[in-house]
Formats: sequence, C-alpha cells, structure tokens
Amino acid sequence: MSLPAEVKIVEVGPRDGLQNEKQFIATDTKVELINSLSDCGLRVIEATSFVSPKWVPQLADANAVMSLIDRKNDVSYPVLTPNLKGFEAALEVDAKEIAIFAAASESFSQKNINCSIAESLHRFEPIMESAKNHDIKVRGYVSCVLGCPYEGDVAMDKVSEVAKELFTLGCYEISLGDTIGTGTPGRARDMVETVAREIPIDNLAAHFHDTYGQALANLYAVLEIGIRTIDSSVAGLGGCPYANGASGNVASEDVVYMLHGLGINTGVDLEKLVHAGKMISDALGRPPASKVARAILANQKI
Ligand code: HMG
Ligand code: MG
Repeated sequence: MSLPAEVKIVEVGPRDGLQNEKQFIATDTKVELINSLSDCGLRVIEATSFVSPKWVPQLADANAVMSLIDRKNDVSYPVLTPNLKGFEAALEVDAKEIAIFAAASESFSQKNINCSIAESLHRFEPIMESAKNHDIKVRGYVSCVLGCPYEGDVAMDKVSEVAKELFTLGCYEISLGDTIGTGTPGRARDMVETVAREIPIDNLAAHFHDTYGQALANLYAVLEIGIRTIDSSVAGLGGCPYANGASGNVASEDVVYMLHGLGINTGVDLEKLVHAGKMISDALGRPPASKVARAILANQKI
C-alpha cells in the first residue's frame, strides 16, 4: 500500500503528557498550552481526564481546564472518562467527545483502573448509552498492545478481542497504545494487521510511546499498511503513572517533521508547534524531548 496524502494527528500532550508530571502544573499553563496547540492547526487535542484525583492528582483541575480553554468550532477536545462519574463530570463542562480506556493485559487493567478487563467493558456500557443520547463521540483506547509492564508479552489476539469489544460498543475510533514503548516495527505491523482483520483500518489509530526509541520506525511501518491516524504528544511529554519507566509519547514535532518530509499533509504548522512545546518545556524546567524541536530551536539561536 502506498503512503497517504494526509494523516490526522491526535495531540495527547495535555492529557497523556502531563498526567505523569509530579509537580503540579498551574491550570493557566495547561490552558495556555491547549490554546497554543489549537493555533498550530491541530484538530484533535485531548485536553484532560475526568478520573479520580487520588489516582491522577495532576489532572484534578479537569473542570477548570475545560471551562477556561478557548474552544474552536473546528477542534475536538476529547477527555478521558473511566466511569459514569467521570462521564457525568465531562457532561457538565459540555465535552463533545470523550475517550474510554481498556487494556489488553489483566494486570495493567487492575493497576490502572482497579478492575478486570471484563469489568471495565461492562462499566463502559452505561457511558456509551448516555453518550449516544447526548450525541457525544467516543474514542476507545486499548493499552499494552505490544507489551505490559507487569506481564511482558501480550497476545495479539487479546488486543484484537478488546479492540473489537470497544468498537462493537460504539467507539468510532480505536487507539492502539504501546504503553511502555517496547514495540519494534515488525511486531507493530503484525499487531495492526491482526486487529485490522476485525476492525476497518480507517477506524484504528497508532498511539506509540518512545521509551525504546522505536516509535517513529513503528509509525512508518503501520503507515505503510494503512494507518491514517496517529496520536502524539508535543515535546514528547508523557508516560503513564501505572507503567514504571514508560517515557513519553512519540513527540508531535518529530511525527509532523517525518510526515511532511514524506509529502504527507497534517495541517499542522511545525514552527508554531515547536514554540508550544518550548513553552510547556520551559514551565517544566527541561528541554523538549523532541529532537526536531531541539534542532529547530538551536538553529534559531544562531
Ligand atoms: P477506585 O478507587 O476503584 O474507584 O478507582 P471508586 O469508585 O472506589 O472511587 C474511589 C474514589 O475516587 C471515590 O472518592 C470516588 O468518588 C472517586 P472518595 O469517596 O474516596 O472521596 N472517583 C472519582 N473522582 C473523580 N472522577 C472520577 C471518579 N471515579 C471515582 N471519574 C478509578 C477506579 C477508575 C476511578 C481509578 O482507578 C482511576 O481514576 N483511574 C484512572 C487512571 C488513569 O487515569 N490512568 C492513566 C490513563 S490510561 C493511559 O495513560 C494509557 C493511554 O494513554 C493509552 C496507552 O498509552 O496505552 C490511554
Ligand atoms: Mg499513552
């Protein structure tokens, strides 16, 4: 299959990126980040999570963040909701899109959301029902698609089974998460091919973390077989609080640079994206993890 003319980027930095930061980031800084990301041409920006603040203290200001951002009509701002309580909180701030999240590994499901995979899917049913009634789009995540921090290898058939359950529940898109970033291109391709036997590939997204430095190679491998939606995080922010050692998501700047270099349109202004990443990296007191951002910023200093 040839490479596409266009790819949709789902920016997950404000949620997946920030959820693991130990030091509390001011609500205004989160709002500034989301607003500057929407100025870059990104059309999907995962803004925050309505999860238990005991489990993810960093995102305890979800309500304030959603109330304070400048919402553009052509931008979607999905939020994570693990249960009906989170979904109802998302409704209160007039969220138009939510994401539910399950795992392909039992141990990860327990550590992350304190229930089994089957229980989590059961928990999502009333959310899906209510989302349908409120005309809210629902994205579904499957974590640990290429490995689990507690169990090691994860069977591709299990990934496919959980993805299909979420799709059957009514999720319009299933994001396949290499939560700990251990995947390599051949396995990433095999995993996507396995899932694509059950779900049209147009409804799948690649959500790769870069712990082992494989994320861009993995993305290229799955682009070649038809993936058209990529999750990434500005400045390579990220990690999962329930996956020790997992480093950030693949950096949005690196993905955009690679795609543009391949002649693939993203609608994203790379220069503006680099500056959005610099702003949040400055707030965190460290340079962006994106190599592209570092190179561009270094050149601008000359
Ligand atoms: P639990 O402790 O079993 O839940 O947690 P509970 O129902 O017993 O509630 C415990 C307390 O939390 C209660 O408060 C509830 O009211 C409150 P208390 O009475 O003790 O004061 N609570 C809530 N508060 C706010 N919003 C809510 C909510 N629900 C309960 N929605 C629960 C179960 C699911 C709530 C918890 O485990 C949780 O919040 N987990 C979220 C973990 C998380 O966000 N992980 C990171 C996201 S997943 C990820 O990063 C992977 C991904 O990026 C893809 C990839 O990379 O693979 C998506
Ligand atoms: Mg993630």
